[in-house]
Parts: sequence; C-alpha cells; structure tokens
Amino acid sequence: MTISAEEIERINQLREQLNGYSHQYYVLDAPTVPDVEYDRLYRELEELEKEHSESVTADSPTQKVGAPPLGSFSQVTHEMPMLSLDNAMNEDELIDFERKVKDRLKSTNRAVAVNGEGEGGGEAQTIEFACEPKLDGLAVSILYEDGQLVQAATRGDGSIGENITLNVRTIKNVPLVLQGTDFPRRLEVRGEIYMPKAGFEKLNQNARDHGEKVFANPRNAAAGSLRQLDSRITAKRPLEFCAYSIGVVAEDFTLPTKHDEILQRIKHWGLKINSDMAVVQGIRACVQYFADLGQKRDALNYDIDGIVFKINDLEIQRQLGFVARAPRWAIAAKFPAQEEMTLLEEVDFQVGRTGALTPVARLKVVHVAGVMVSNATLHNMDEIARLGVKVGDTVVIRRAGDVIPQVVSVVMDRRPDSAYDIVMPTNCPVCHSKVERITGEAVARCSGGLYCGAQRKEAIKHFSSRKALDVDGLGDKLVEQLVDADLINSFDDLFHLQLSDVVNLERMAEKSAQNLLDSLEAAKSTTLGRFLYALGIKEVGVTTAQNLADHFGFLQRIQDADEECLLAVPDVGEIVAKHVLSFFAESHNQSIIEQLIKVGVNWPESEPASAAENAELPLAGNVYVITGTLADMGRDDAKQYVQALGGKVTGSISAKTNCLIAGEKAGSKLAKAQGLGIDILDEAGFIELLRHHGVQGV
Ligand code: IVH
Repeated sequence: MTISAEEIERINQLREQLNGYSHQYYVLDAPTVPDVEYDRLYRELEELEKEHSESVTADSPTQKVGAPPLGSFSQVTHEMPMLSLDNAMNEDELIDFERKVKDRLKSTNRAVAVNGEGEGGGEAQTIEFACEPKLDGLAVSILYEDGQLVQAATRGDGSIGENITLNVRTIKNVPLVLQGTDFPRRLEVRGEIYMPKAGFEKLNQNARDHGEKVFANPRNAAAGSLRQLDSRITAKRPLEFCAYSIGVVAEDFTLPTKHDEILQRIKHWGLKINSDMAVVQGIRACVQYFADLGQKRDALNYDIDGIVFKINDLEIQRQLGFVARAPRWAIAAKFPAQEEMTLLEEVDFQVGRTGALTPVARLKVVHVAGVMVSNATLHNMDEIARLGVKVGDTVVIRRAGDVIPQVVSVVMDRRPDSAYDIVMPTNCPVCHSKVERITGEAVARCSGGLYCGAQRKEAIKHFSSRKALDVDGLGDKLVEQLVDADLINSFDDLFHLQLSDVVNLERMAEKSAQNLLDSLEAAKSTTLGRFLYALGIKEVGVTTAQNLADHFGFLQRIQDADEECLLAVPDVGEIVAKHVLSFFAESHNQSIIEQLIKVGVNWPESEPASAAENAELPLAGNVYVITGTLADMGRDDAKQYVQALGGKVTGSISAKTNCLIAGEKAGSKLAKAQGLGIDILDEAGFIELLRHHGVQGV
C-alpha cells in the first residue's frame, strides 16, 4: 500500500512527540504525560510503520529501548545487553504468547523436556513458567567480583548505561559483600530498584510540608533518587533492590538449569528476590496468577505495573532466543494503568471538620485502573502553585489503591488560552466567614467554627459515627438535612429533637423517625473513651481517646490534667497533649460537655486498673499495634482481647512497640515494623496466642 501524505505527516508528528516524551521520561525524570498515553502513541506509530515498512528510519522511537545516558555519570558498557520485554495487554495476547512459543519449539523441531499430555506429545506439552510481579522502578545491573560489589549501572539504552555504583552502594538491601563462599568469581545480578509505597508517601508528605519538590509517583521518586550526583542524598531515600535475573557469570561456574533455582541462589548469596514469585504449569495458570495478584495489587507495599512470565527452563530459553529488543521466552502482562489524563473543569473548596479548606479538582470523568474518577485532591494552595495548574488544563491524575486520586502534573503543551488561575476564596464558600491562613501552615481555614454549616455537619457526623456515640440510623445525609433545616446547632441539640421535627424532613417516615429517637436515647449510655473521641479533639483518634480514658478513669481528671500528666499516657506526645489542653481550655467546649451531661449522656467511671493489678496478666507491659483486616474478628475485638490480657494497644508503631498484629492488606505499619525488627503476628498466630493464654471461643 502506498503511503499517503497525511500518513507521512502523522508518522513524523508521532516520532517527534514520542522522542520528546521519552526525553522527559528517561533523561529529565519528569514525564508530562502518563505512560498509557506514550503507549497509545507508540502503538499507533508501530501500526503505521508495520503497514509501510519503507517508512521505518533508524532513529524512529520504535527502534530503540531507552534514551542515551546523562552526561554527568560515567558510562558503563553492558557485556550482555540489558533487554526489555514484550507486553501482553490482555488475556488473549497472553494465551497467544504461549501458542507462539509452542509453535516455534515445534517448528524448530526441538523436543521440550515436559510432562507430555495429549496425543503426539510435541504440541500439547505443558510449559513451566516463573511468575514475578513487575516492579515499577528502574532496571539496574550490579556486578560482584570475588564477592565484592564493584560496579552498578543503569540500563541506559540497553548497551550503555550510567555508572551509579556510589549510589547503589547506599541502598540498604544491596549487600556490598555476598554471603557465603559458593558464589561465582564474577556475578552480575540484575533487578529493579524501586521505592516502596510507604516510603514514597512519607517522602512526599515531608516535601509538601517543607514546600519542596514532590514526586509524581514512586517510580519517578526512585529515578530521581538514584540519579543524584551526590550519593549522600540517595542514601537518605527509602530505596530497595529486588533481583530478577543474572547477567554475566564466570565461565567456570555451573549454574542451575531453572530460572527459579537461579533466583534461590541469588537469595542465598544475600540479595532480595520477590517473595510473591511462583512457578506454575501452563499459561492458564499464569492467567490465574495474574488475576490473583491483581486482587492483591493495592495491598502490596510496592507499585507493580504488571506480571512478568518467564519460561522457567533455561534450555528452552536458549532455544527460543531473542528478537531485537526482547527475549522470546518472556512476556510482561500489564495491569490497568494507574495514571490517566483528563480535563480539569473546575476547582471547588471543601470545608472539613476543622475548617480546613481543601481544593478539589472536578474532572472530566475518566477510567483509571478500573474505577471512574471525577474528583482529585489538590491538597492545598502550595501544591497548586507547585503544579502550576489552572482551570482548563489537561492534567495527569493518579489513583493508587485506596488513596484519593491525585493530580500529579499538568500537560503544559495542551493548555488552552482560556485557562485561568485557581484562587483561594477570601470567604468560606459555606458560611462566608473569613478564611484565614496562619503563616507557616500550608492549609487555610474557615474561621467560622461551629457557626459554619460545613464544620457543624462534619463535627456532628463524627460525633454520631460508629466509633464515637454510634447513633444507629443517623447517616451523613440525615445530618446534612438536620443542619440545613436549622434543627441542630450543637451536639446536645441532637438529644432535644422531637418526633415532629424529624417526621417533617423529606423522605422520613414516622417509623424511621421514631427509630432515630430511640437510637439517640440508647446512644446516651456510652463509655468515656467513645465520648472523648466523639468530641473531635484534634489528633485524638479512637486509640488515643481510649488510652486517655484508661489512664485517667474520670473525665474531670483529664480536664484537670497538665501537660506532664498527659504525656504519661501511651500514644500521647507533645502535639496531642497541646491539642487536649487547648480543647479543654476553651469555655465554649466546657459548656458543650456540660450540656451533653445535662441531657443525659453518661458513662461509667472508675479508678483505672493499677499497674500492680495488671502486672499479673500475661501480656502486662507489652505494647501492641493492630493493623490490616482480621478475617475472624474485628480489630476492636482483637484490641479488647489484648487489653483483657493486660497488654496495651496503641495506634502507631514506635520503638516502644513490642508486637504488631498484622491482618490482610497490612500496609505501611507492617513495613515500618519490619524495618524496626518488631515481632509480627498474623491473625492465625494471634489466635494461637490468645488460646495459649486461655481465651476461649476464638
Ligand atoms: S526481566 C530479559 N523481570 O521491566 C528480561 N524485568 O520492560 C528483562 N522489570 O527493564 C527483564 N520487574 O526494569 C524482568 N521481574 C522482572 C521485572 C522486570 C520489573 C522491568 C525491568 C525491565 C522492564 C522490561
């Protein structure tokens, strides 16, 4: 087919765009479009070039793997090229991969060492695959000679990379000396350097607090950290290395014949390999592994963008060999992208419980990793300034796990002339009180306090929520209706509600109105811990509230406590102590408490169990943290068991923590506990502990 003028023009345009994006990505570590957009354009170019092979030029983006290394690091020539992987975008492409492998093996007429199944043997062999999560970081090669780390390099363009030895030496889980003595004289380990999610969130939060550079995603953070010319900076970044293959190996060394066995050796020599890797039989099992890991994706403590499937038998790998930039014996099955781009149509300011105004981007609806996204947080005005974002911009948004979608960057070359600045309102959008920003604080707040309908709504929602006074049947919508109808101004108004007030609300039947009044009545009998939590004192979460209650036993004692007394409570640091003190110093808050007691809110008070009484109990003196989802009991139950056995439960991991009880989907706390070498119990282990101490019925 002859090529048209339009096609030539499109090809040139695509090459120029792709080259630009690739430079931003590989050289500047500052991509302006998400990977999916790059991939779309890349595939379009690939298609056009396939149709018109005469148009392919040596410098087309389809003809190279990465970008040339930065000038500032010295260069390293890879003795064995560092390859890339072909992608499978869906199940069909994955199944197709196995079929092509089998066809190829058959046509080269080489028998496969397999468990024959079906007639004829050859065609129906079962192929063994190693399945590995595809970490989203940077590929590196680390060379050991006589067991010593002598060189580390980035992949670069596959043949020449950058010498980043000094930086890699700073990474905590990269050994400078191999373990044992049975390693080859020369050994090149290849793998991925990445930043675990928890470390990334912390790095960014810290940067946001200090008005410093925020990274778009963990991959960029890893790249930016690794490309530091000053390795002391790299040393401070939470980077990790995970090995996935070997490169050059001394010739006199005999290696195992399976990929997974090689990984086990690498592990034995002291390097990390992925603990979620598995060996399976046949491509159907790969499809299953892909689905299973997809389910676990959000709960993993590192970002992955797919699964790599590799034929496990090295002899078959050798037979299949390579094509231009990728091996024929491996494929990367991609997960839905976590970044997309869309139009920022408007910015609203949401008022939270403490009056903080959060700018929220209203987006043209877009699918990200299987979820429809129409809002994303912009955090605060500093973040808006840092992003340089305007209304009307095309923005890159990222949705990772349960985290609220974030705007990560602006696609500047798509900014229309009509784009305009985002300004913080001078008055609260809800109550029109003045908006104030304390110097040094990143957030601006509505000064209306409980006069502000938005703050009032949020405060009442919190007051009646499940872990607070637990008013059954009082959902968010109903709170909003009650506040909008001017029926509640403060917490105690809830308990003055009359049947006639409630029935008159829209969509409220008499029966549910009566139920609500009954639940309110029932909610009056509570506990001191719940009551304290319900008050909404800044930084006082469920655990801290309970600790305060346990420690003091009486509300009056908490109200009278000075800073020193407060600091003696587990989990209470200077900031929390300051918030508790200033809360009770407010006469307004004192009168709210009086009113609540007057309408009948009550709780049992008693002397706290003395240390001497508790010392008899088996878990006395031990501090526990509970995280993740426990399948057989709620976290609250777990906490009560620990407390009943004399243990303390706090909300965050510190050097004082003795043990972490980690359920499913445990996230940053698990990582932190591992980092601090704290004992970790899974749910089964915890149940065993309870049974051991005579707890029945678990
Ligand atoms: S194997 C010849 N295994 O994906 C095989 N790569 O698109 C080359 N990656 O450059 C790589 N996890 O940065 C392999 N378990 C894994 C991987 C993995 C992440 C990255 C690596 C590579 C890119 C290929």
